[in-house]
Amino acid sequence: MIIQARRSTPAAYRGDSLVLFMFEKEKLTGEDADLDRASGGMAARAVRSGDFEGKAGQVAFLYPEKGFAAGRIILSGLGERKRFDSGAWRRALADTARRLRGTGIREFAFAMNHCRPADNFEAMVEAAVEGILLGMYRFTAYKTEDNSGAAAPTKAVLLDPSMARIREARRAIARAKVVSDAVCLARELACRPANDMTPRKMADVARRIAAKEAVRTRILHPAGMKKLGMNAILSVAGGSHEPARLITMEYNGRGKSREKIVLIGKGITFDSGGICIKNPDRMDEMKSDMSGGAAVIGAINAAARLKLPVNVVGLVPAMENLPGGGASRPGDIVKSMSGRTIEIVNTDAEGRLALADALTYAARFRPAAVIDIATLTGACVVALGDRVAGMMGNDAELKKRISSAAEKSGERVWELPLEEEYLEKLKSECADIKNSGGREGGAVTAAAFLGRFAGSYPWVHLDIAGPAWAESEYGFVSKGPTGFGVLLLVRFLRDWAELPHGERS
Ligand code: BES
Ligand code: MN
Ligand code: ZN
Repeated sequence: MIIQARRSTPAAYRGDSLVLFMFEKEKLTGEDADLDRASGGMAARAVRSGDFEGKAGQVAFLYPEKGFAAGRIILSGLGERKRFDSGAWRRALADTARRLRGTGIREFAFAMNHCRPADNFEAMVEAAVEGILLGMYRFTAYKTEDNSGAAAPTKAVLLDPSMARIREARRAIARAKVVSDAVCLARELACRPANDMTPRKMADVARRIAAKEAVRTRILHPAGMKKLGMNAILSVAGGSHEPARLITMEYNGRGKSREKIVLIGKGITFDSGGICIKNPDRMDEMKSDMSGGAAVIGAINAAARLKLPVNVVGLVPAMENLPGGGASRPGDIVKSMSGRTIEIVNTDAEGRLALADALTYAARFRPAAVIDIATLTGACVVALGDRVAGMMGNDAELKKRISSAAEKSGERVWELPLEEEYLEKLKSECADIKNSGGREGGAVTAAAFLGRFAGSYPWVHLDIAGPAWAESEYGFVSKGPTGFGVLLLVRFLRDWAELPHGERS
């Protein structure tokens, strides 16, 4: 998909299709009204007849008389003016672009005239580009026969009469492409089935994309993990023929500064539940139990390509949770890297075992902040549904930064409490801690468990079990694995890069 910024106006556009955006229950005004009149007044009639109300997500195709410059006019709703923001704009472009899939339309043009002077122009351009690229995403790697709806536009053109704005738009387009690529990469990794996207393959992908950027990767194999005492991670992989990998990706964009951010992503390439095997109903979705890891790989890649002045380390413990002969049994006790012993009362609570060792390992980087992102609990989906991630953490300032990045990025989070008291539920008869506290408050006890392994660094845990998967497409989100977390993490890193930081060591 090519996205261009061209110094021109909608009236002068002589191409395939021109998009006219409209606010809900408003009339076309100014330039838009002139254009409609020139094309035969069809848009006004569509509105008057009640067929088109400008609701968010509404898209209509109009075919002007011969003689009009553009071949088609695409009416697209923006929803209510008073609720218009970068999120609504991103969504409008996503809905529009998605509707062009499976049509004969190859190219469309649009102007930024609905963005107010108060809006940050570059941020609005980024939102538009993200909407287009993310809204059109489809996972087709395994489709050899069914090409229905495969046709898609190959070019979008942003029109603006001001050369200064076009220059700004070009920079914004380049950035938004990088970020959208990273989201699509995360989606792709999670869409790939577990017989393809194995821990080894995940490590290969991380290494391959890092090689193109200023990112250093180190891949730990089971022997190396054994030496470091990462028995919690190793215990999860025991039931599978696929060996575990601990992927470390390091991007130092802040020169000599030692201040590092560590991002940890749960990378369970398939979660069968292990010996505590899951119900087969929707078990296939557990191919995406590495969505947190995929988001981290995507975010590090974007940070490097954007050359953000931050130092960031990605840690992705990747393994497969299967019920083989070497699998953990309920009641097994393992000694984690921290030295703490864990009784595995439920082999399906494997994510926190993986994260426990990764959180211990993270302390080696003397991080200024640690964020883990994981499809950790079904309980979080029950609590918050599939559009909002759960956030828990030990540092108010860091939580505030994440909340703010979430607001801006359109990937929302909601804070759940980190309750020390719930550690009671995790008391084990034989070991220091057990890995499940039962059903009640499952997202919170999971975070309490992680809290025992987080070092003295500021730490936030994001439970993305809900928003990592979409039952059906919505907004800029495609059906299935969503790539959730990339936009949020990249926004967080970009905001962090703009902070005036002193050396912390
Ligand atoms: N990967 C699952 C959590 C999950 C559930 C993600 C649904 C996405 C959708 C996790 O490993 C898990 O199985 N958690 C258990 C924990 C329980 C055994 C304490 C759960 O949520 O049931
Ligand atoms: Mn599980
Ligand atoms: Zn899991």
